[in-house]
Amino acid sequence: MKTEGHTSRILLTACAMLIGFTVVLWVVLSQFFNIFAPADDIALERRYLLFITVVLLLFLLVSLFIVSRILYHFTKPVDELALVAGKLAEGDFKARASVSEFSDLGSLASSINKIAQAGQETQVVRLMEKERLKTLIESIGSSLLMLGRGGTVNLMNGVFAQTFHTSSSDSVGKSYKEIGLPPDAEQLIENVFLSEQVHEQPIRLQKNGVPVHLNVYGAPVIGRHGNWLGIIVVFHDISKIIRLEEIRKDFVANVSHELRTPVTSIKGFAETLLDGALDQPDIAREFVRIIEKESARLHSLVSDLLELSGIEQHSFTLDVEQVDVVSIIREAEKLVSKRLEEKEMILAVEAPAKANIEGDSRRLMQVLVNLLANAIAYSKTGTTVRIGARFEADSLILSVADEGIGIEAEKIPRLFERFYRADLARSRDSGGTGLGLAIVKHLVEAHGGDIHVESKVGRGSEFSVRLPVHQAGNTAK
Ligand SMILES: Nc1ncnc2c1ncn2[C@@H]1O[C@H](COP(=O)(O)OP(=O)(O)OP(=O)(O)O)[C@@H](O)[C@H]1O
Ligand SMILES: [Mg+2]
Repeated sequence: MKTEGHTSRILLTACAMLIGFTVVLWVVLSQFFNIFAPADDIALERRYLLFITVVLLLFLLVSLFIVSRILYHFTKPVDELALVAGKLAEGDFKARASVSEFSDLGSLASSINKIAQAGQETQVVRLMEKERLKTLIESIGSSLLMLGRGGTVNLMNGVFAQTFHTSSSDSVGKSYKEIGLPPDAEQLIENVFLSEQVHEQPIRLQKNGVPVHLNVYGAPVIGRHGNWLGIIVVFHDISKIIRLEEIRKDFVANVSHELRTPVTSIKGFAETLLDGALDQPDIAREFVRIIEKESARLHSLVSDLLELSGIEQHSFTLDVEQVDVVSIIREAEKLVSKRLEEKEMILAVEAPAKANIEGDSRRLMQVLVNLLANAIAYSKTGTTVRIGARFEADSLILSVADEGIGIEAEKIPRLFERFYRADLARSRDSGGTGLGLAIVKHLVEAHGGDIHVESKVGRGSEFSVRLPVHQAGNTAK
């Protein structure tokens, strides 16, 4: 609304009318001389005209001044109110009209100000709600996309933009088919549009070469009055759940497989014995020896499984005390000495005289013996295994290095998985269950530490365990 210049227009009109009136008056009055004094006294006539001109000019000036003052007094507030009303109409609720007590429009001005104030409050509430909604949308952790009735993108959150390598500014206003969604997701959106029903479906993507599983949930958005506003699509990352499910399946398959081999063997040899082999003492002894070996394997498998499940229990706790890692190394050395001798291997220890840390001595022994057993099992005869212990900042680094067969780089990340064997043939030969390193990792993590592997195929491997000197939340006995 154009409000400027109302005052000046009214003033100009009034002035023009006054001037016009004065001119008419001058013309009329100038005729009076001829009517009332018809004598040809030109000088008198001129004086008369001069007189009425001066009088009328004075009259004009005085009336212009008075009229403009009066008009200004009445039209200025109207102009101001019109200006404020215009700003309010444009959404500027900060605009206020000055409420003059002398102005007759005071009550109108205060009503306009009340409307402005109410508008401003509504605007603040709306801004807050918008802000709250934005925070909510951004912090839900799943990708979120909102489409309008025509299938154009109305809104998306940061997670969506990151997952689908796009941005709000690039996609808002475009059709959902133009923003690079996977075909399955596009199909689901189409189905929601066609059926106006909720649709849900898991999809699989490739993100930086890693498979990502998403559960896509699409639902129509219906307004308060039942009108169809568009659809909302949520992409929920279920990769962790899928991976856990795969681990569970693998675990069951692995356990069954590991159990089946010794059980089949024990059953077969026992049956052969019963079928007559018992009568041939040499063969019988050999078979019973195999049965004993296989049952030992079964025993170690079951006890490793029990051990692992015990460590994984929430109730698992460490018996924390002051431990001298050097004396643990000496103890472990004794436990593996027989195996070392069998393979004519040398054990070299590089450690300070004492290395006290807070930890569970039995569990730390288990870690070290497992690492040493591997170092011996996966090395050739006559090689050397080195144990190192040194302090680094608030941690003790305990390392076991061998000159053995080594591990291929791509297999290292999977080494700590249950039942994983880097070298299938050799690991089975060694009688291993593939659970040793999984147990080691759990025990090291229970101590608040971590384990790191460096290896070169054919040259050897080094397993380094970092253990904190002090246990958080545990008071050493
Ligand atoms: N020092 C090492 N050198 C080479 N390969 C190793 C070494 N330590 C472990 N590995 C590889 O990692 C795999 C997993 O080791 P882990 O100790 O978990 O199982 P395992 O030795 O086969 O059986 P066990 O449960 O009896 O220890 C092994 O099968 C082996 O292939
Ligand atoms: Mg092992």
